[in-house]
Amino acid sequence: MRSTRSLVLVGALSVTAVLASPAAALAAAPQTAPQASPAAGPPSLYQGSPADSLRRLDHRSDLRVGTAVNTDALAADPAYTRIAAQQFDSVTPENVMKWEVVEPTRGTYDWAAADRLVDFAHANKQRVRGHTLVWHSQLPAWLQATITSTTDASGNRVDTTSLPAAEVRALLKKHVQDEVRHFKGRIWQWDVVNEALNEDGTPRQDIWFQAWGGTGYVADAFRWAHEADPQAKLFYNDYNIEYTGPKSDAAYALAQQLKAQRVPIDGVGFQTHLDTQYGFPDLQANLQRFADLKLFVAETEVDIRSTLPVTADVQAKQNSYWAQSLQACLAVRRCISYTVWGFGDAYSWVPGVFPGEGAANLYDEALAPKPQYTVLQDVLRATKAPHRVGSGGGWA
Ligand code: XIL
Repeated sequence: MRSTRSLVLVGALSVTAVLASPAAALAAAPQTAPQASPAAGPPSLYQGSPADSLRRLDHRSDLRVGTAVNTDALAADPAYTRIAAQQFDSVTPENVMKWEVVEPTRGTYDWAAADRLVDFAHANKQRVRGHTLVWHSQLPAWLQATITSTTDASGNRVDTTSLPAAEVRALLKKHVQDEVRHFKGRIWQWDVVNEALNEDGTPRQDIWFQAWGGTGYVADAFRWAHEADPQAKLFYNDYNIEYTGPKSDAAYALAQQLKAQRVPIDGVGFQTHLDTQYGFPDLQANLQRFADLKLFVAETEVDIRSTLPVTADVQAKQNSYWAQSLQACLAVRRCISYTVWGFGDAYSWVPGVFPGEGAANLYDEALAPKPQYTVLQDVLRATKAPHRVGSGGGWA
């Protein structure tokens, strides 16, 4: 099986994993303001973007090349901050819009870190992908404490909560409405529902599924989000749907069903966490079939990991995977954004979750660009891909 088994681990990680990261160590050190930062407000560094930066090269196709941002690093590391501003024209909060961060105590919100990132994006003329509203993972401790997990006969996880179903439904509604309202008008795309499917294509038996007695929570979440911010493009987001198979087919059936029910879904996000030990997925065909449902598609969390150390052969394979992942998006006019899951290997989630693997990003541990960075530049420079369909619409 592909990367599936290891990715299941993600659910078990939470803020502790974030705190164990190099970024947290940096954040704990005395903070110096990034260079060129004005006395007040976030740094506005985008004017210094080189002509060969990803964010300038992507204009040819109107594709937005974005990155996930580790906000601890953004506060602490000037080199990180400069790259985030100058290379990318879209940002996704890696963690700080997740439920465990925004509502650490029941009924008390903390938007501070997410607000800072949205302000940074605004100052640097970047769009924001909101991530993520409905998920089984990184729930606040007060909610997680009510959950017990078991495994069913097929090996799929089953979560149950001690809270009554009616309370669970009310909690989710309030969470979605409050968060989308808080950021109203400032989010380009929202990952409304994240990872609702098992590898075998069955619906994930999380507490939302249990409280609704089925996948009805998905439609409800999209409707609530749309009411709260009618302008935001609303996405379903998942991993391993880059490969044709039961999971991708199930995501396709779900998207088709939501469209048929006139649920306000605008797009499907393909996380694209790839590993060079497996074959390259039939990504373009999968993007295209979802696009043919009149949905936008996006690669939302691209990283390409390998077993360490990286030999010359592995490097060549990484280069090829990076090129193909971007070309697949460019080939599909409804593929409106291509987002990497962080850009520096020192800040990557990969080594903590996939032991022995790493080197998954465009920049090395010291934030020097790696060959895959040049590969993306070359692909963007060479592309004759047409302008994206519908990626504009009043956004910076
Ligand atoms: C990861 C973050 O990168 C880590 O810092 C955190 O500890 C766990 O979550 N799919 C997703 C992302 O949708 O939110 C996950 O991000 C990676 C897998």
